[in-house]
Amino acid sequence: MAETTGIDDAELSDQQQPTLNGRVRMDPRALVDQIASAQQLDAIAAPLARAVGRATQPTPVKNALSGTWLGHQLHPVLTDVTIGAWLSAAAVDVVGGATGADSARRLTALGILSAVPTAASGLSDWAETYGPDQRVGVVHALGNTAALTLQIVSYGARRRGRRALGAALSMTGLGVVAAAGYLGGHLVYGRGVGVNHAAFEHRPTDWTDVASADALEENAPLRVDADGVPVVVVRTADGLFALSATCVHAGGPLDEGELVDGCLKCPWHSSIFRLVDGHVMRGPAADHQPVWKARIHDGRVQVRADD
Ligand code: FES
Repeated sequence: MAETTGIDDAELSDQQQPTLNGRVRMDPRALVDQIASAQQLDAIAAPLARAVGRATQPTPVKNALSGTWLGHQLHPVLTDVTIGAWLSAAAVDVVGGATGADSARRLTALGILSAVPTAASGLSDWAETYGPDQRVGVVHALGNTAALTLQIVSYGARRRGRRALGAALSMTGLGVVAAAGYLGGHLVYGRGVGVNHAAFEHRPTDWTDVASADALEENAPLRVDADGVPVVVVRTADGLFALSATCVHAGGPLDEGELVDGCLKCPWHSSIFRLVDGHVMRGPAADHQPVWKARIHDGRVQVRADD
């Protein structure tokens, strides 16, 4: 027999969930859903995303902020520095005694300084999102801006010798960072923003027949299916090449992309991958594109994974 909480669901708001012991708890997922569907946020998000997109248009800027040079998204690396510094300052406030005042102040300052590149990398990633993800991302950014402001005011208080006030402001800022971090975690783990979209492909390692050689025109990317995995095959004057067709950045169709100097440019956010080895030449992608071996055999195009 199904257990009942004895609570009429109609009495609960969207953010409240009944539990088996009859208590009511807040459901943060419902709150995230409300943020994701709040179209009013587009009035802030859309112009900001356009401005960030313009500012990060140069390839060196995009590559630096995306982590293309690192082989990993840069933003989560930097958040560890910022949050770690502020958390350490709070720990020193709690257990460091009177002699810890200078250390706590310096750690607060370190967190503030590191927040600049942290925010820049996050904004660069965020500007490539759309709709619900962009709305959740803008609230994540606003929360972190509020947290940064609290930490700056905290630093000022500490400089004036008002450590207790500084510590209270830092703690409040950390609470705001945690709430904003929940939204960031939702974007990555719940929505797949920033994860490698080709990570779960099961690429066949045996030669796999995918198309007639007649279907292959020079410099015209051809989308084929290799045991359920989309592949883009390209024949150029330099040879025959194949990459996974699903862009590692956000899943864009590379077969609809543009050929540029021996590379394939994604139609969604302009990441550029070298045909010969899948090497990422321009972000926002941080990973290389999976590369395949390709050949013409008995009039048929065949591919196999090159892992
Ligand atoms: S999906 Fe974003 S660059 Fe390809």
